[in-house]
Amino acid sequence: MDKQYKRTLVTSALPYANGPVHIGHLAGVYVPADIYTRFLRLCERPVAFIGGSDEHGVPITIKAKAEGVTPQDIVDRYHTIIRDSMKELGISFDVYSRTTSETHAATASEFFRRLYDKGVFVEKDSMQLYDEKAGQFLADRYVVGECPNCHAQGAYGDQCEKCGSSLNATDLINPVSAITGTTPVLRQTRHWYLPLDRYEEALRRWILEGHTEWKTNVYGQCKSWLDTGLQPRAVSRDLDWGVPVPVEGAEGKVLYVWFDAPIGYISNTKEIYPDTWEEWWKSDDTRLIHFIGKDNIVFHCIVFPAMLMAYGDNYQLPDNVPANEFLNLEGDKISTSRNWAVWLHEYLRDFPGKQDVLRYVLTANAPETKDNDFTWKDFQARNNNELVAILGNFVNRVMVLTHKYFGGEVPAAGALADVDTAALAEIKTATEALAEAIETFHFREGLRQAMEIARIGNRYLQETEPWKVSRTDMARVATILNTAVQICANIAIACEPFMPFMAHTLADDLRIADMKWSMLAGEAIVPAGTKLAEAHFLFEKIDDAAIDAQIERLQRIKEENRLKAWKPAPVQAEVDFDTFCRSDIRVATVTACEKVPKADKLLKFTLDDGTAEPRTIVSGIAAYYPEPDKLVGRQVCFIANLPPRKLRGIVSQGMILSAENSDGTLSLIAPSDTVAAGAQVK
Ligand code: 2FM
Ligand code: ZN
Repeated sequence: MDKQYKRTLVTSALPYANGPVHIGHLAGVYVPADIYTRFLRLCERPVAFIGGSDEHGVPITIKAKAEGVTPQDIVDRYHTIIRDSMKELGISFDVYSRTTSETHAATASEFFRRLYDKGVFVEKDSMQLYDEKAGQFLADRYVVGECPNCHAQGAYGDQCEKCGSSLNATDLINPVSAITGTTPVLRQTRHWYLPLDRYEEALRRWILEGHTEWKTNVYGQCKSWLDTGLQPRAVSRDLDWGVPVPVEGAEGKVLYVWFDAPIGYISNTKEIYPDTWEEWWKSDDTRLIHFIGKDNIVFHCIVFPAMLMAYGDNYQLPDNVPANEFLNLEGDKISTSRNWAVWLHEYLRDFPGKQDVLRYVLTANAPETKDNDFTWKDFQARNNNELVAILGNFVNRVMVLTHKYFGGEVPAAGALADVDTAALAEIKTATEALAEAIETFHFREGLRQAMEIARIGNRYLQETEPWKVSRTDMARVATILNTAVQICANIAIACEPFMPFMAHTLADDLRIADMKWSMLAGEAIVPAGTKLAEAHFLFEKIDDAAIDAQIERLQRIKEENRLKAWKPAPVQAEVDFDTFCRSDIRVATVTACEKVPKADKLLKFTLDDGTAEPRTIVSGIAAYYPEPDKLVGRQVCFIANLPPRKLRGIVSQGMILSAENSDGTLSLIAPSDTVAAGAQVK
């Protein structure tokens, strides 16, 4: 940051109000944005932290239709859940509003109109799919059909989930309307396009030359878009949910959700600062930072800046867009539709009072440079081995010792020994590295430095051993504990951006009325004579039962998803009847059954097939019948006329039939009533 900025405007991606927020959203966007904002506040630098719900777009209308409610019902429900759960997690928005607000409708509408009046847009007629029965144009997601690339059925108008290719609805083979199931027709419609190509050069100069300091994932994505060449983008849609296009003759059309959503940042700023919002957006000495996930990069680095350039009026472009990669859950991509997520509101219910633990784990594991994985075992380990064992333990020891030797009153320090000044110097180094890390959006590193203070504290107690010194030199004990209390105070302030609940509890315990970044590593923060609160634990261990319950929940979800996704295997190529009849399928009674030694999967069956000779068949179903002797007396079906085959030295005379269940398990086929051994299956 070379320029002196007066104020920082921090925005965090407006989450779609069609579902609650999950840990992926938190790790990627809201926790880092909150850390940054809290840090600036502690530094007494003016900052506004803008949030809100993104309440337009097609998925919301689809969800409403599926539930038989209105889109407004959907967004009301999820806006409330999102707003309340983020507040409970301590995400300290200065405003959390919504894009269905009146202020937003007016702001987005005015923005479009100004661009329209300036002649920025290109108007174009095109042919789009229209559902005659429903009487409406079909958004891409409302059309399903055969993928032109992989020929999978059920591809959406914008994407085939089977082969992943992005599609145009008009390319689908045999398109069908998802609303009425009828075949849509092509009908002409008019839309307004933002000619991104005209801003390409300006964007290229601004990003590729002017912002080489951006994170490599962000810079790289922008470069790739710019190198491919920008195309005009339609910024209106034929839909009845959204901000109406404020142009005559545009009835039934709304602004494209990605046109109005970023304007939501401006609308929401107006809501908190109705008189001064322009200072936050249009002054050279304002710095704009967008916190987003990687899927939003193009909209925040290319489309929205082009919109701001087109508008003019000195709108500031973002100074940085520290987008994160994705967080996975237990090795799989987080997915709202598959319910593969840890939902924030459920976490808060299941782990009451443990907001900081989640914030800590998500930051320690943040997907800053690559996708990362959240696992419940790691969550437990980080809580128990780091927060409890390192941070909580240090603070607790200091509080207990201060109570034991000085009745809870912070003793005055005497002359500092080398070990004391060395510890304080290490803290200074850590807090400087911490500030540098946060300023440059390296929050994982920042957290590591904050925790380093607790580690320094533990080492300090280990080295100075005040409990031993107490036998000979109480003045020295006073100096040690005074120093240790100051280390606790440094922990409270340094950790506030990351773990605000713990930090404020600790600050209260230490009687620090007002935490400021400038207090770090300086003069004593807690004056001698201060009466501390009683000792208690800032963190508690999380036991296996709580973690196992979460893992079991995920296993249940995986199982449900598998069942939902299961489809019978496609029917094989036809065989003629005579060929089929040549398979001699018969029933036999099991007379003995045992595991084949050193072959986990195999069982050796001895069968009575109605002949004088017993028949031996080796079958690969041991995993599903762990107690083979229990099969004795049961009937099975087998193919009698396969050529014998040697398996593990045993001659197998045929094949036992089984059915493969949806979970891949095998189940033996048997007649519904007992029949004569050797009976033919016809
Ligand atoms: O990807 C999303 O969840 C979008 N709702 C983000 C919008 S960010 C901004 F433009 F509002
Ligand atoms: Zn496909």
